[in-house]
Amino acid sequence: MTYVRQVGPGCAALGRALVAGGVMSGDWAGAFADVPRSAFLPDLMWPWDMAAGCSVPVSRTDDPQRWQEFADSDCPIVTQWDDGNHLGTEPGAVSTSSASMPSVVFRMLRDLDVRAGDRVLEVGTATGWNAALLAHRAGAGRVISMEVDEAVAGRARTVLERFGSSARVVHGDGFGGYPEGAPYDRIIGTCGLRRFPWGWVEQCRPGGIVVAPWGTHFSNADGVARLVVADDGLSASGRFTGPVEFMKLRAQRLPPVVHGEYVRESVKEGWESSTGVTEAEFLGERFGAQRFAVGVRVPDCLCVEAEKREGARPVWLYGLRDRSWACVLFRDGDDARVWQYGARRLWDEAEAAYRWWVAHGRPGYERFGLTVTAEGERVWLDGAGDFWKV
Ligand SMILES: C[S@@+](CC[C@H](N)C(=O)[O-])C[C@H]1O[C@@H](n2cnc3c(N)ncnc32)[C@H](O)[C@@H]1O
Repeated sequence: MTYVRQVGPGCAALGRALVAGGVMSGDWAGAFADVPRSAFLPDLMWPWDMAAGCSVPVSRTDDPQRWQEFADSDCPIVTQWDDGNHLGTEPGAVSTSSASMPSVVFRMLRDLDVRAGDRVLEVGTATGWNAALLAHRAGAGRVISMEVDEAVAGRARTVLERFGSSARVVHGDGFGGYPEGAPYDRIIGTCGLRRFPWGWVEQCRPGGIVVAPWGTHFSNADGVARLVVADDGLSASGRFTGPVEFMKLRAQRLPPVVHGEYVRESVKEGWESSTGVTEAEFLGERFGAQRFAVGVRVPDCLCVEAEKREGARPVWLYGLRDRSWACVLFRDGDDARVWQYGARRLWDEAEAAYRWWVAHGRPGYERFGLTVTAEGERVWLDGAGDFWKV
């Protein structure tokens, strides 16, 4: 295993761009320069190539310049596929460990508001880069980072030690937090949550901050939840700060949904209707808040967009607790056809949720918030109003 420790001109340029773009606060510039992402990346990695629209293999041995350029650019970099079961150079099926986009890392660090001397728990070590940044800010012996994958944890431990970081890596399932190190002033999850772990709130001191991506199985549109633990320690609450897409906490990943287990022969088995909601309205932007909002209003449902062919795009909704399904076929210039089957009318639920979102002024992530207690979690809109339980 080889490591690079180099702050090249590309790294400095990325730092300036992150500050200019308002995603990295100026007080992180020193840490960004002292703790370059390239020092934590493996020789073979799979950065997201914006131009190609896919992950591409890049080897430092074969092409050091290209490797360094990707390391110093604002792209996510996959470092493991298929829980380590996929070997070889080509990308695997599912990315299971990565170095997150620098702009996402620094947005979340800004939300976390870490101060010197804070005790910090990170869940999702991966390369160890974020743990090293946290340790740079919080100080020696203040950061514990948990990683569920043993090989990933082992590599991060080695890299952090060689880098000279004091961040401590613990191999284990971070869903339960790490009570041995509690109480923490700050807890950050760097994997997407589908249920917020109550243990994280319990292990964070009153007034402490917990930051993590949170969303529903409906889509990958997560929001960064920034929760402050209440003075009595019995809840944590706060708004979402913006959109994000993250690989999920391992135990909360959705098992593959098999289409044939829902639709036996054709959509004609379903009850047929139409809708005036258009494809552009319903799907919106990739990071738009409506997918997040609809997901919260339509629990236990997965939305899958099929490929658009000859002006027609099918969008499937699958019930996750029963075999209900819906298919809406959006067609350019025409009302969409809808077929629904099973105990739930999933399209009716999704359309009502979409119209609810529109009626409330198309709220962005920042108008939504999350409250977590020992009993469960609630998403809300605009402070106290419109509570509902998930
Ligand atoms: C997106 S990566 C984290 C990025 C990283 N913090 C960085 O510095 O860029 C997500 C990591 O979370 C880990 N993970 C998933 N579920 C976990 C769990 N239950 N406990 C601890 N780590 C987990 C994955 O194995 C993966 O390495």
